[in-house]
Amino acid sequence: MRVWEGPGPVPPDVLRDEVGPVHGLLTMLTDLVDVSLLDKAPNLKVVSQMAVGVDNIDVGECHRRGIAVGHTPDVLTDTVADTAFALLASIVRRLPEGAAEVKTGGWGPWDPFHMTGGDLHGTVLGIVGMGRIGSALARRARGFNIKVIYTSRDSVSDLGERVELTELLVRADHVVVTAALTSETRGLIGINELSLMKETAYLVNVSRGPIVDTDALCEALVAGEIAGAGLDVTDPEPLPSGHRLLSIENCLVVPHIGSASVRTRTAMANLAVTNLVAGLAARPMPNAVPAGD
Ligand code: GLV
Ligand code: GLV
Repeated sequence: MRVWEGPGPVPPDVLRDEVGPVHGLLTMLTDLVDVSLLDKAPNLKVVSQMAVGVDNIDVGECHRRGIAVGHTPDVLTDTVADTAFALLASIVRRLPEGAAEVKTGGWGPWDPFHMTGGDLHGTVLGIVGMGRIGSALARRARGFNIKVIYTSRDSVSDLGERVELTELLVRADHVVVTAALTSETRGLIGINELSLMKETAYLVNVSRGPIVDTDALCEALVAGEIAGAGLDVTDPEPLPSGHRLLSIENCLVVPHIGSASVRTRTAMANLAVTNLVAGLAARPMPNAVPAGD
């Protein structure tokens, strides 16, 4: 067994140089498993990813080569939904802006319309991608008397009203992206989509950065086309210090910590190992990525 001890992700050239004799690979979302890596890995039988999203892995090519792919859904669903709701609540109620003002000595006397933002209760929440995480978020919304509208590729949910993306963007008071990154969702939220959103609406992304066009988002935030954004994921990622997004006050960025509770990350690690061991033994994995995903 070879283990990359860090710091940081394993450099692609190290992975390429060492993957030759390997039968099983336990990957993070920072490891690119593409055709050129697979060409260097003739013995590979299983790729087990410690994440639910597998957009860093060419799953179709793995399956064509008889390589099983595993991931870690379910165990992280509720933690990511907690994070999505926390991000939404933080930006809608302007908590980071308020906290920054207090820390930098800007807290003046109470003022009736100082730092007034939006509401959560009594609003319409648009969920882009009503999968496991979107559904868990919709369940949280119920407790806040929030009406849910959603888009979904294939599932119908009784937790809200299914609509087309255009209608969702027009009607939602706030929008949360929980869809997986695929060739269909890359760049899904661009300049036109942002311009459909209400000027009072906030956008949250807890999925993958490239679903939202970063330049278009910066423009929309600066021009006041939307009220603000809360991002757990960005494009590029990590966001370089000095990036334009970081200078925008009504944008809260956190470093891809959606599933980062101790309990959930431990469960993900254990599940990734269980998947790996099952795949190496040619047994069905508890959580194989299905063909076509
Ligand atoms: C994290 O982003 C994951 O896909 O699990
Ligand atoms: C605010 O603090 C209030 O009492 O309404």
